Amino acid sequence: MNVLLVGSGGREDAIARKIRETDTLYSVVTNDNPSILRLSKDVMEYSADSYKIVDFAKKNKIDIAFIGPDGVLETDLVDRLLENHIPVASPTQKAAMIETSKEYMRGLMKKYRIKGDIENTLIKSREDLEKFFKENDGEYAIKPIGLTGGKGVKVMGLQINGAAEAIAYGSEILERDGKVLLEKREIGEEFSIQAFTDGTHIAFMPVVQDYKRLYEDDLGPNTGGMGSISDKNFILPFITIDTVNEAREILKKIVNSMKEDGNPFKGVIYGQFMDTDHGVKVIEVNSRFADPEGINVLTILKSNLVDIFLDIYSETLKDNIKFMSKATVLKYIVPPGYGIKPAESEITIKDNIESDNFRLYYSSVSGTMNRVKTSKSRALALIGIGDSIYEASDIVEEKLQYISGDYYIRHDIGTEQMLKRKIKG
Ligand code: GLY
Repeated sequence: MNVLLVGSGGREDAIARKIRETDTLYSVVTNDNPSILRLSKDVMEYSADSYKIVDFAKKNKIDIAFIGPDGVLETDLVDRLLENHIPVASPTQKAAMIETSKEYMRGLMKKYRIKGDIENTLIKSREDLEKFFKENDGEYAIKPIGLTGGKGVKVMGLQINGAAEAIAYGSEILERDGKVLLEKREIGEEFSIQAFTDGTHIAFMPVVQDYKRLYEDDLGPNTGGMGSISDKNFILPFITIDTVNEAREILKKIVNSMKEDGNPFKGVIYGQFMDTDHGVKVIEVNSRFADPEGINVLTILKSNLVDIFLDIYSETLKDNIKFMSKATVLKYIVPPGYGIKPAESEITIKDNIESDNFRLYYSSVSGTMNRVKTSKSRALALIGIGDSIYEASDIVEEKLQYISGDYYIRHDIGTEQMLKRKIKG
């Protein structure tokens, strides 16, 4: 099969490697990711003109296409590929609205009375924003409607303090977008559930937890994700199976409701949930593999990914997808100053760093497999595969001796100390 992959971050490197286990890879990239370039038979630089990508797909007789990044799912690319009879295992522009428009997502949850919704209000003027905070006490998350790259949401009590700061940040969003979403702040442990779906059938992947905050002990500003963990039994030691099942039911209901609404979702769907003392809450729903969480599950995926893509497209997905019964811990190496004032740097990687229990995926970098130049975004995803989360974390730490250069990494992700704190609550 000839498979087209759009995207060139760490998540796409993990997808590319799975594709290459069985099939031929063609890639559309935004950076010269050395791993993806090495794996691809032909490569084109990303163009916002979808017809150029359609031409590339036609020239290479693509059998199935898959889109990695949310920014591309927001465009008309999937619709243009389908219109040109190129099979795709990713959602249409309209279905991707489950991620690209929080207004659509909250509207769908309300219309179909889906459990897990959060009390929310859409505000369209500065006057209404001020009135809202005069009439409502408590803390809220201030959210843009559209994509934020993980960095645009500010929560009262975390990134902002008090109503005055909330109004100031809300006004900034209003001026830019004409709307802002206020969601009641929920407290609890967050977790991610990703699933394959063909619009009707759904196959869940192991539960993963993403570490968004820049500094150790979950402090500092939010980032695109500094690392992520999964456990060998596919749930997490601090989340019960009942909680996971509740979240899975919510995701299933979202998929069913989209179909009922005449907007079926095909591809990978991922819910960011929170385990609160009054049930599971939906923080956001995304239309793709998460990054980094997608890398955890792809690393232990035993089934053939291209077959899954074909089943998604032809609406014959079965719930028989297999994963290795292993824990994984991923830690991202990022450039110095990442998330605040990033500086580009160079990183050197010794040969043969990978082993049965360790993978190194290349993200927003260029250069060679041994010497990469970073951008201002995440550079390298290091993932340990073990019989416990601690073991997987130790594997990553041990491999750091083979990587040199100026970089930052969160060492605490997946450590015994961190997990004990979470399990105690
Ligand atoms: N893990 C955050 C994201 O993929 O959006």
